[in-house]
Amino acid sequence: MVSRVRTIAFDGIEAVSVDVQVMIAPGKVGMHIVGLADKAVAESRERVQAALHASGLSMPAKKVTVNLAPADLPKEGSHYDLPIALGLMAALGAIPADALADYVVLGELSLDGTIAPVAGVLPAAIGANGMERGLICPHACGPEAAWAGSEIDILAPRSLIALANHFRGTQVLSRPEPSVRSAARDLPDMADIKGQESAKRALEVAAAGGHNLLMVGPPGAGKSMLAQRLPSILPPLAPKELLEVSMIASIAGELADGRLSDRRPFRAPHHSASMAAMVGGGLRARPGEMSLAHHGVLFLDEFPEFSPQVLDSLRQPLETAECVIARANHRVSYPARIQLVAAMNPCRCGMAGEPGHRCVRGPRCVSDYQARISGPLLDRIDLRIEVPAVSASDLIRPGRAETSAVVAERVARARKLQQERFTALGLPSWTTNAHCSTALVEEIAAPDTAGAALLKEASEKMGFSARAYHRVLKVARTLADLAGEEKVGRLHLAEAISYRLAGERLAQAA
Ligand SMILES: Nc1ncnc2c1ncn2[C@@H]1O[C@H](COP(=O)(O)OP(=O)(O)O)[C@@H](O)[C@H]1O
Ligand SMILES: [Mg+2]
Repeated sequence: MVSRVRTIAFDGIEAVSVDVQVMIAPGKVGMHIVGLADKAVAESRERVQAALHASGLSMPAKKVTVNLAPADLPKEGSHYDLPIALGLMAALGAIPADALADYVVLGELSLDGTIAPVAGVLPAAIGANGMERGLICPHACGPEAAWAGSEIDILAPRSLIALANHFRGTQVLSRPEPSVRSAARDLPDMADIKGQESAKRALEVAAAGGHNLLMVGPPGAGKSMLAQRLPSILPPLAPKELLEVSMIASIAGELADGRLSDRRPFRAPHHSASMAAMVGGGLRARPGEMSLAHHGVLFLDEFPEFSPQVLDSLRQPLETAECVIARANHRVSYPARIQLVAAMNPCRCGMAGEPGHRCVRGPRCVSDYQARISGPLLDRIDLRIEVPAVSASDLIRPGRAETSAVVAERVARARKLQQERFTALGLPSWTTNAHCSTALVEEIAAPDTAGAALLKEASEKMGFSARAYHRVLKVARTLADLAGEEKVGRLHLAEAISYRLAGERLAQAA
């Protein structure tokens, strides 16, 4: 006889339905798994047999064939253990054959018959709901699955025996509860930063419009400090964003105890990070740092120290808001709508441009170092600022600066204006000016006459590319939103253009 259990495979953060068919038939004693399974799935055989044995069930002295259908879809990971074991148990009559018909099943087995946690339970639960089924998942993943909706039937047993008892009605499992969202706001605060008023202003603009930001300055000026404070002034994730962010974290196995947080992700990979670590890939096509930073901040400290290949691989996702990972026979894509914040020293020795300093290696110290950032990548960064060393008078001045809470309020107001504008235009999924398409930006950021004249003059003088032109407009729109003004004026454009030029001025100064 053949018993069937529904499980899933992951295609990015989508759950794709997979049918586990188990057949026990006369023939050579043994167990075979077929259906384009990777090594972890092939090893299922050993775990399933041991776990069944530990649960007091012996394998039949017959030929057991497990087929994972559709056969052309690659099956990766260890979450096929549980559906295979349940299929066998149903075929052996240890659980009622029809008990599994209403569920999607995933979980890894330990040799002692307990069910170990797996990655991807949240997207699996959402997928199961879409198939109008309940979910059977490991106990430890229950709270994560429960986030997918209160109407989904979720069973989160600790062991095969607990599940068998549930189906027999001797010990019914209760539905897991979603664990509370951590609301604590213990982020570092803007008030810690002394001086650096213009850098703080740029950080606020970046937060308000979701713009990419590059900070250039000598070591110890507070660049890393500034970047780490960006999350504290960003608005919390909207419910839909929260779900997307959590699904990616779930696939990556990074949802600690199934607890979801409405805090925006802040990822700061080291500059030795590989391309697979950044855009995703490796075993099981895991999401990379860019996707883990979805709807949040990707902070690249010591920007030029990243390998040129890694930096180039960022360009495409920055434009399309999606990371595509090419595999041998299929492609996987993860969302990656990120805000890039980068920090760098102006040159290798770090001190170029400081009063009274001369690089030992001469002007090449700056030009060689900055050339590591390619033009096209730099072009995608709207705000470029110089962060000079903090002056002594700023450092010793008593009193605290403005707190993050105050800045966050202004940012939230500017974001609300943007959201309302996009909603009015019938584009509710767009949230920030940085996000806006170039066609639309000309409409929503059309400057007044004086502004238009300034922009024309500047683009002619500086030779703006079309991309640069539109990016200046987007920043100007954000500046007007921060000021609560309907129309983009000359002042907003002047400030937006200055952010565009800072990087170039620095290169010329050297
Ligand atoms: N503007 C500032 N206000 C207060 N402390 C600062 C400031 N800038 C730097 N510091 C101090 O210097 C340390 C190094 O700053 P950091 O942000 O790592 O500099 P950078 O990344 O520019 O090299 C910080 O941990 C902080 O103690
Ligand atoms: Mg630093």
